Amino acid sequence: MAPPSGDSNVVVSSNVKLERLLSMKGGKDEASYANNSQAQAKHARSMLHLLKETLDGVELSMPETPFVVADLGCSSGNNTIFIVNVIIEHITKRYEASGYSGVPEFSAFFADLPSNDFNTLFQLLPPLANQGVGSMEECLASTGHRPFFAAGVPGSFYRRLFPAKSIDVFYSAFSLHWLSQVPEIVLDKSSMAYNKGKIFIHGANKTAANAYRKQFQTDLAGFLKMRSKEMKKGGSMFIALLGRTSEDPTDQGGAGLLFGTHFQDAWDDLVQEVIISYGFMIRLHIVFP
Ligand SMILES: C[S@@+](CC[C@H](N)C(=O)[O-])C[C@H]1O[C@@H](n2cnc3c(N)ncnc32)[C@H](O)[C@@H]1O
Repeated sequence: MAPPSGDSNVVVSSNVKLERLLSMKGGKDEASYANNSQAQAKHARSMLHLLKETLDGVELSMPETPFVVADLGCSSGNNTIFIVNVIIEHITKRYEASGYSGVPEFSAFFADLPSNDFNTLFQLLPPLANQGVGSMEECLASTGHRPFFAAGVPGSFYRRLFPAKSIDVFYSAFSLHWLSQVPEIVLDKSSMAYNKGKIFIHGANKTAANAYRKQFQTDLAGFLKMRSKEMKKGGSMFIALLGRTSEDPTDQGGAGLLFGTHFQDAWDDLVQEVIISYGFMIRLHIVFP
């Protein structure tokens, strides 16, 4: 994640501003998200059979109608391109097997917050294949060409991103544990839910943990409401996000421990070194539901 550039002591005073500032580290250098997302890539690959099961349930329309895929929280790097290719190859094969006269043209929307490095993502996209209904060979990503039209969509997935009934498949991986906002109550020093200036619920009391849970539930409900308007009839959605195996906020384990302690320590160091302010840090809250 990249801290806001330029001003070394930024205090972000509203959650809307936070949405505009936060992003994974862009570019393609050693420290970029594109070069540090192998864990996400590995987990996404381990779930491909589940993704394909979901895709088997998607209703296929006549091939004259474009088939539309959207990756929500795509970030920048090859993970999203890989997944979109998997989805399109699978749907292409389904069209082939279903006796339709051809395959549709495909369209892929890469959606993330406006601060995402869409430029790097677009540079990673291979050239567009010469599409056309029925051109199965050219539609396969293995030809080194991109079998879909591509577009970036800047915006929060907690709000509307697409026209009504326009998307066949939504995919979102490792993104929905980002809350839309910090629950105000965990910032209130007089509240039982005060999280003592920490950005995470590791070691928090039950009231603080519940405040995060409530925020997550509100956010997820909002997310699903938006997608229910945007999805075509017969469409499907595949969501993967980090979760918890225990209700006890002190019991994180695995990735939870990484975010709950090491991540917190790293932010504390940045505050100590006056690279970011405490005010910025306390507005950075992530939750594992
Ligand atoms: C860990 S990355 C996951 C990227 C990619 N899906 C993958 O599997 O490698 C999480 C992404 O979610 C995005 N994100 C977080 N909150 C978001 C929101 N409200 N709306 C859209 N994207 C969001 C972040 O900007 C980030 O790029």
